[in-house]
Amino acid sequence: MEKIKDETLSQIIKYDEEYYMPVFGKRVPLVADHGKGVYLYGTDGKQYMDMIGGIAVNVLGHSNPALVKAVSTQAKKVIHCCNYYYNEPQTLLAKKLVEMSFADKVFFANSGAEANEGAIKLARGYWYKKGTPKPKIITAKMSFHGRTMATIAATGQEKFSIPFGPNVPGFEYVPFNDIEAIKKAADKDTGAIMLELIQGESGVHPADAAYVKAVRKFCNDNKILLIIDEVQTGVGHTGTFFAYEQYGIKPDILTLAKGLAGGVPVGAVLASKKASTGFAPGDHGSTFGGNPLACAAGLAVINEIETKELLKNVTETGAFITEKLEKVAKSTKKISEVRGKGLLIGIELAFDSAADIKMKLFEKGFLVSAIGANVIRIAPPLILNKTQATKFVTALKNVLTGKE
Ligand SMILES: Cc1ncc(COP(=O)(O)O)c(C=O)c1O
Repeated sequence: MEKIKDETLSQIIKYDEEYYMPVFGKRVPLVADHGKGVYLYGTDGKQYMDMIGGIAVNVLGHSNPALVKAVSTQAKKVIHCCNYYYNEPQTLLAKKLVEMSFADKVFFANSGAEANEGAIKLARGYWYKKGTPKPKIITAKMSFHGRTMATIAATGQEKFSIPFGPNVPGFEYVPFNDIEAIKKAADKDTGAIMLELIQGESGVHPADAAYVKAVRKFCNDNKILLIIDEVQTGVGHTGTFFAYEQYGIKPDILTLAKGLAGGVPVGAVLASKKASTGFAPGDHGSTFGGNPLACAAGLAVINEIETKELLKNVTETGAFITEKLEKVAKSTKKISEVRGKGLLIGIELAFDSAADIKMKLFEKGFLVSAIGANVIRIAPPLILNKTQATKFVTALKNVLTGKE
């Protein structure tokens, strides 16, 4: 691809180093200028196939006309009003999510971490209000629940919390996909178990169906609340709107964020009627959470997913790309495993460094994420088609085999 001199890129990198906290380290050298469909364009005019979709956020792709229209129409009416008042998009989005799910009640936040904070508070509030506080929450090792103080404590990976101690107390970590470990860890103080159905941030590791069913049964038998973190798996990436639908269980509390408003920040806590009693007036809130702009975007996203039958596309294109990736694994021996569901896929490399392959794909015009030493994660927009999927797999194969 032709290299275009990009003065904006070098200027922004310089400013970023000078003015931005260095939490993202050295970033991929792309200044996002605009996007269309599954493509993102840099300020240098170069086109990238966005196979990471803002990390499972841009579910409709970039500049989806219905989403743009919903956001701009709402912006012209009212962007924000505080939660002293009612706002129509908030109420309608809550109603829609209830109609689509196990839930009876919804609360809106602004991010995944904040939704999980809400879920943790709700579970603890539930037991407190019953007069039998049960603050302990069991979570899984290698989980990821966010970057706030309670969610780094909930996350079963010490590297996220060590420098920021003391940790919020009350979390115990057990190996993922191990029901016996949960049974051993649970005690009279255990009020909730919190799990992802696919551990996205630690390498796209799906939960076993039998495990999830056994956890649900254990929670029922022992009156423990089940919190499912669908911040990454929710809003269609696995082929159903919620991943739990594929596991034959219903959670008591579920969290969403990422794709829910297609890129406008939003988070959501969904709860059964019983679990929702954990919050009484004054117990929780958020200035921005559920504001008209974010919720109008959320309504447009769900409407597009439904009317364009995007879940069907996820299932079909997901199966198609997985099969193609498995063929590459077999023919090149450069991929040791392809795992995930729908269009949330982890590609474990047999030899190569994921960071190196990510950069080589970037140079070829494809955006992916590298997790740990050797996993390439893709979570493209739900609109990805088979031709685009084939282009990506061919590029990956070429990169892995050193073919230009
Ligand atoms: C499963 C899960 N939970 C929570 C979060 C945190 O979400 P946010 O970055 O919006 O706070 C993430 C983010 O990657 C996630 O994957």
